[in-house]
Amino acid sequence: MKPVEIKPGIFWVGGIDWDIRNFHGYSTPRGTTYNAYLIMDEKITLVDTVKHYMVDEMISRIKEIVEPSKIEYIISNHVEMDHSGGLPRIKELAPQARIYTSIQGEKGLMAHYKSDWDLQPVKGGDTLNLGKRNLTFLPTPMVHWPDNMVSYCPEDKVLFSNDSFGQHIASPERFDDQYSWGILHEEAAKYYANIVMPYGDQVKRALEAASALDIQVIAPSHGLIWRKLLPQIMESYQKWADYQSEKRAVIIYDSMWGSTRKLALALMEGLEYAGVPAVIRNLKTTDISDIMTDVIFSRAVLVGSPTLNRTMLPTVAGFLNYFRGLRPRNRIGFAFGSFGWSGESVQEIERELVNAGLEIFQPGGKIAYIPSPDDLISFREIGVEMGKSLLKNSE
Ligand code: FEO
Repeated sequence: MKPVEIKPGIFWVGGIDWDIRNFHGYSTPRGTTYNAYLIMDEKITLVDTVKHYMVDEMISRIKEIVEPSKIEYIISNHVEMDHSGGLPRIKELAPQARIYTSIQGEKGLMAHYKSDWDLQPVKGGDTLNLGKRNLTFLPTPMVHWPDNMVSYCPEDKVLFSNDSFGQHIASPERFDDQYSWGILHEEAAKYYANIVMPYGDQVKRALEAASALDIQVIAPSHGLIWRKLLPQIMESYQKWADYQSEKRAVIIYDSMWGSTRKLALALMEGLEYAGVPAVIRNLKTTDISDIMTDVIFSRAVLVGSPTLNRTMLPTVAGFLNYFRGLRPRNRIGFAFGSFGWSGESVQEIERELVNAGLEIFQPGGKIAYIPSPDDLISFREIGVEMGKSLLKNSE
């Protein structure tokens, strides 16, 4: 398998996971890559590895350049097993290789692999000389694990950013300018929304640290390598880290007999009438990780469920549980739904939206059994008012 030279002497030697469709609960319809990088210097250095089942692919790429036994340094920017899963095999092939990782990374690697590897913890600002090049380490704790760090090569102006700036895309292309910006941006947004969103404050600190560096290439550990569209992706990351959104709405619902769906459609009509684009997502047909991509772009989040067994539908409860964990900020929420006789779902949804940190636009709306034409008009009016409020407050 061919490696790809990203800068003279620096090679992408990762693995392409064409088949994966679910990455610990995150839908990956385009597959993904695990990017590892080989730096050919006086000290041959491997930056990160790949998921365990892709290790042969990585080794075959390394062998196109050098015998793996010659690797002297390994940088482990992140312990999670999609990047460290190849370490045991590499350490078998290059037992003398010293592993450089953050202080938390040392603990994490010990806990994962229970090994006697030669681990060298590094602190922020520490520099490792490879010969002609250096690598400087910058911890990025909680973006998105405690151990995360990024590595920067000042001579080549390359930032090995690990999960940051990643996207789950399997493709023969390796660089941003070889691929569709629209898909790349959407996948980067989905990645941020599902993996990084809870850590906006930490991302801001990392972006501030990165702004002091002269970066020509961002080499993440998933997806395409950024060499042309750095200003664009940096701008998006800044917005996402600030929890900025657009004057848009996402309406998320499930329905039993179609009544909650009718309410969702009436709300959407009202929002559109007010001039706010709205998307509608049925939890029976849309994966929750895709819905989070809508959330990252939307100021308003409307959630609907009928009442079943004195509570909301399990699909809606599952979504709200996931949503709350991702801790979105600066959003307004609205709960709605139909019911037969008890009608607890709307209050429960509203409570969950509050727990997730949303500001409630107005008390939730519920309708018994089947909405009448007047009910639909009143829901449409809620949509109009919400839309007007969004436009007014975002001016
Ligand atoms: Fe791609 Fe946090 O691992």
